[in-house]
Amino acid sequence: MNDPKQQKILILDFGGQYNQLIARRVRELGVYCEVKPYRMTIEEIRAFAPLGIIFTGGPQSVYREGSPHPVEEIFDLGVPILGICYGCQLLAHHLGGEVTEAADDTAREYGKTETSVDSTCRLFAGIPETSVTWMSHGDYMARIPEGFRLAAYSVACPNVAICDESRRFYGVQFHPEVNHTEYGREMLRNFLYTVCGAEGSWTMAGFRERAVKEIREKVGDGKVLLALSGGVDSSVAAALLAEAVGDKLTCVFVDHGLMRKNEGDEVEAAFSGRELNFVRVNAENRFLIRLAGVTDPEDKRHIIGEEFIRVFEEEAKKIGFVDFLAQGTIYPDVIESGLGDAAVIKSHHNVGGLPDYVDFREIIEPLRMLFKDEVRALGRELGLPEDFVSRQPFPGPGLGIRVIGDITKEKLDRLREADFIFRDEVAKAGLSGEMDQYFAVLTNVRSVGVQGDGRTYDYALALRSVVTQDFMTADWTRIPYDVLDRVSTRIVNEVPGISRVLYDITSKPPATVEWE
Ligand code: XMP
Repeated sequence: MNDPKQQKILILDFGGQYNQLIARRVRELGVYCEVKPYRMTIEEIRAFAPLGIIFTGGPQSVYREGSPHPVEEIFDLGVPILGICYGCQLLAHHLGGEVTEAADDTAREYGKTETSVDSTCRLFAGIPETSVTWMSHGDYMARIPEGFRLAAYSVACPNVAICDESRRFYGVQFHPEVNHTEYGREMLRNFLYTVCGAEGSWTMAGFRERAVKEIREKVGDGKVLLALSGGVDSSVAAALLAEAVGDKLTCVFVDHGLMRKNEGDEVEAAFSGRELNFVRVNAENRFLIRLAGVTDPEDKRHIIGEEFIRVFEEEAKKIGFVDFLAQGTIYPDVIESGLGDAAVIKSHHNVGGLPDYVDFREIIEPLRMLFKDEVRALGRELGLPEDFVSRQPFPGPGLGIRVIGDITKEKLDRLREADFIFRDEVAKAGLSGEMDQYFAVLTNVRSVGVQGDGRTYDYALALRSVVTQDFMTADWTRIPYDVLDRVSTRIVNEVPGISRVLYDITSKPPATVEWE
């Protein structure tokens, strides 16, 4: 974001597990923020010009050698600071208080904790005196620093929050960013709006305008190439780039024949009306030939990824000299890859690695500062159809890893039908918003059945549905029996070759979301 007028919150990362969540909460409250490494120099911080600073939590102890600390001058900037957990202990440690290891269970707190706040402190304005907060700390503030006063306590811990209203420094031992903290959102809102004076100027309409301008300036008369997978990120990137540079953009959509029912046509329909060059390559045959007889999941992934690159390269060559390669990288990828600033070609999670020898000058990643929910909001802003924007994640290797064992066109077609019925019934039951990912898997188990008067010996199909925040862990969805019943009845009646339907009730871990 190069807009000097944009109000920005700086989130200094001390290695806590909820750091992305803090950033998402701040953005949801309408304020732009960036997560940066704690090693930032004072010059870098000044150049960033933060409206306020948040110190995140972290796994270390502030008094241990080698633990992460911010530059000392940060406390003299006159900028408000909110320290969360480890960040709160940093405030205490640097400003003359004392942090020690909690000697016993008295001051060490984990989980939901009843907490009492002083609502005359601006951070807690309008918040009930007693509410539940989420704690996770083994250290505690034995002495609060000079100039600060106590602003919250719990049964186990006398010093749960501190504030120095004149310097606008606030520290909380608990985590306001997690949902378990009943009034966490309100506390963050107080910090942003009342303490820092934020105006709530972060909107996708504003982002769109600035991004379009920046992309235009950068691209000039050059040509841009984008690998469009049909997933949300690359689709939104395509729509944004199309608005910015129009027909200087070429989107290559490789239809590998492993898409869901109607998906290829939906992607084409969403982009055909726009002013851009859209190339759909129907490559089903060549993928199926390469995949014939392959049963190992990793071999399938490898073959699909490699074949994708080959097709993409051939198309890129036809287009000729390309100045810019665009990617749909989003902010969690940036944060997870170590907060590096360099735009490097990384293994693209959708397509398994783009070629680094296409003739291009630079990479453009217009979504690299956006979270997934913001990408969806931007997609709506750009007029992409709602069912497109809200679609669930779909793996790059597509149905190739949902047909267990060897892949044939016939099996793919059956899986496509069954998967479509599952999605259709979920939508009719109004449950799509309650599941983060749901799909069908064609197993390679055959079982005996009876249909009409005859014996059958057909395939078993598994349904999978999960709820999850981040796909690292996931819980299986408690789909109502009557919905499962309708899905099962329809599938065995409407899809030939499937005579049994199973529901996968395994969480991740120990299972993964996909079967292969
Ligand atoms: P797992 O199966 O690892 O899935 O629990 C977690 C999430 O990642 C997706 N997934 C993939 N996405 N290429 C992708 O682009 C892949 O090879 C791949 N494997 C799994 C999966 O759909 C889920 O959203």
